[in-house]
Amino acid sequence: MKTSLRVPAAPVNRNARAAALPRAGNVPAAWRDEVDRVLINDAQIARRVRAMSREIERDFKGHEMVVVSLLNGTVMFLADLIRHLSLPLRLDFIGVSSYGSGTTSGELVFTKELRIDVRGRDVLLVDDILDTGRTMKRVRAKIQSLCPRRIQVCVLLDKPSRRVETVQADYVGFTIPDLFVIGYGLDYAERYRNLPFVGVLKPEKIQI
Ligand code: IMP
Ligand code: MG
Repeated sequence: MKTSLRVPAAPVNRNARAAALPRAGNVPAAWRDEVDRVLINDAQIARRVRAMSREIERDFKGHEMVVVSLLNGTVMFLADLIRHLSLPLRLDFIGVSSYGSGTTSGELVFTKELRIDVRGRDVLLVDDILDTGRTMKRVRAKIQSLCPRRIQVCVLLDKPSRRVETVQADYVGFTIPDLFVIGYGLDYAERYRNLPFVGVLKPEKIQI
């Protein structure tokens, strides 16, 4: 199946250059019953994440950096991203949970608060995917109230066609179409985070 889907350019910031969506490949046998297709494979993710690290390193050099990562979907992305950052940095997490389970986002609840002081520091806010933008808007406002020097937003995936809030990312791994994706940290009902690739869940596995 053809996987090199083309989408309109994302309304992202000047320095956010998302990679073109690559042609990915076959679903590993272990996941064939549940995953319809691989959208971005592990090698493609690794290459792109390394390039993002280089860009971030350049932009944050010489400043006090705090990486603030959203739980739980950033687990793999964050680990790969920061291991390539040769900069002094601090790391903290914010827990956000949405009451809408499955593929829709509902009311947001903070499950873990930030503990590191970000006042006067440069924050890199990391999330797995920018969808409607509601989560990022809330979290960004919360961090902004703590008076950092600046906040740069970094996401692995961006679905600009789904945007409800006017929020943009400064670093985008891949711009993808309106598909529900899983793997590389992203879940459906808390499953599939361990997949080493980003894939499309079979529609029959989605329970509305
Ligand atoms: P937003 O608030 O609508 O932008 O949603 C952001 C959150 O929804 C992300 O951090 C994900 O946890 C979740 N999400 C949105 N789209 C997807 C998807 O395609 N797969 C898995 N999770 C998603
Ligand atoms: Mg999620």
